[in-house]
Amino acid sequence: MSQLSFRSHHSALARLWHWADLAVVTGLLITVLLRRTVLSARGNATLIQSQLQDLGANVNVDQSKKVAALLRDNLWDWHVYLGIALAVLLGLRILAELTSPAEERLLAKLKAGVAAWRAGGDKEAKHFTVMKASYIVFYACLAFMAASGLTLEYGEGLGASEGLLDTVAEVHETMLYFFLAFITLHLIGVVRSELTGAPGLVSDMVNGGPKS
Ligand code: HEM
Ligand code: HEM
Repeated sequence: MSQLSFRSHHSALARLWHWADLAVVTGLLITVLLRRTVLSARGNATLIQSQLQDLGANVNVDQSKKVAALLRDNLWDWHVYLGIALAVLLGLRILAELTSPAEERLLAKLKAGVAAWRAGGDKEAKHFTVMKASYIVFYACLAFMAASGLTLEYGEGLGASEGLLDTVAEVHETMLYFFLAFITLHLIGVVRSELTGAPGLVSDMVNGGPKS
């Protein structure tokens, strides 16, 4: 198997990591979706106020907003639990990179791709290099999400200023779009490879694939 082949061996830890990452990232995206739809504090505040009024209880806007925010916060606990799981997964991925055989390491694959590209590599070498580089960017963004998410959760207790927390929250929130774009392009890429260049890519991620 060539060093630049998309068909490569994935250790059991790497495969387990990949599917656990899929589950955790999907869970995080579901919490964001629910927060912005059925558990939206603004939308539910109006609903709570009008329903209670129908039942004869008089609550003002602020009281109903408080109840709606409590319901949303229950959901948000799950965002934080999954976020902590994501930070742990990132730690394991770094450990796997450091302990796996040289030829299975992502950085080694990227280096091989760059060397082939520099040596006047063909389209395949360029494609391979861009794919591996995109995974490095993904891991960097994952590290940022873990660090910023943990700062949002625990920063106040550790004395972070309100201004800093607001900026971190804004960037953390905006990074959502990077994850949506990465996942979309990743899935298109995987399906395209299965249909054209490298069929078997997905089963490699399930059964480990060919050993070099
Ligand atoms: C792929 C990873 C992640 C994505 C896509 C993501 C997405 C988001 C989004 C979109 C928001 C803003 C919610 C809104 O106002 O609509 C948010 C807030 C937040 N996230 Fe994440 N997040 C991720 C990882 C994490 C991690 C690792 C943690 C760490 C514990 C975390 C903790 C938080 C906290 C504490 C907030 C603030 C909630 C609030 O303002 O009450 N997130 N996240
Ligand atoms: C939330 C969704 C997903 C995320 C965040 C994600 C993330 C990743 C990452 C970071 C890698 C690079 C692994 C490495 O070499 O370090 C990867 C590789 C891969 N993923 Fe995913 N993945 C997702 C969903 C999926 C799904 C649904 C499939 C299959 C149907 C899939 C199939 C693959 C395959 C076959 C590879 C190996 C590609 C290669 O070696 O170039 N992924 N994924």
